[in-house]
Amino acid sequence: MTEAYQSLQQQLELDRGIPYSPNWSAAADFLQIIVDACLQQKPSLIFECSSGLTTLMLARCCQINRVGRVISLENGAQYAEATRSYLQRYGLQDFALVRDAPLLKQKFDAVAYDWYSVADMPDQLIDMLVIDGPPGFLCKHARYPALPVCYPHLNQQSTIYLDDAAREDEQETVSLWCDRYPGLSHEYVETERGCSILTLRKP
Ligand SMILES: C[S@@+](CC[C@H](N)C(=O)[O-])C[C@H]1O[C@@H](n2cnc3c(N)ncnc32)[C@H](O)[C@@H]1O
Repeated sequence: MTEAYQSLQQQLELDRGIPYSPNWSAAADFLQIIVDACLQQKPSLIFECSSGLTTLMLARCCQINRVGRVISLENGAQYAEATRSYLQRYGLQDFALVRDAPLLKQKFDAVAYDWYSVADMPDQLIDMLVIDGPPGFLCKHARYPALPVCYPHLNQQSTIYLDDAAREDEQETVSLWCDRYPGLSHEYVETERGCSILTLRKP
């Protein structure tokens, strides 16, 4: 594990281990961006596509903030269970909920995608949306459905963080979102895997 992960671990006092996986965890520089944003903006509801290190760190930020919670969609039952056990280890169960959401073939804007099965969305509006799944190899624009599903549930002023945004597929997805959904402004941050930050001000 690199120094950047260790530094985040120290910052958040996660001294009993973290669910780090070299190929699958969000990169440390992406984590630092969402951790800083969460500590600064103190969102009430964070909605997340894919669980793991991101979930644990955001839940810890909510605990530090004394406000907010994370709802995380996870398609892999074993990864959902692993994230839950880390949340339990740190007593963070009140700050994050991992929902089992197996991938299901679904159509959005007349195109079929493998995306999380979401029976219902939270009543509360989303302040921060973090997208680090589903895995990009599943289908073209694999993360596109996040906005068709979440846009109606996003707060008037909210922020979206997309990991792996250096990939052409994710760049196309961001363009499709910006064309289709009003009120988005896009900032690209050159992190290890690229981070797109979309600020939403609903018209
Ligand atoms: C890029 S990972 C990101 C997970 C999470 N955001 C994090 O930072 O730990 C996206 C998805 O890959 C899957 N995954 C996680 N670890 C995996 C592994 N070791 N092998 C295969 N798939 C994995 C999980 O379903 C996870 O939701």
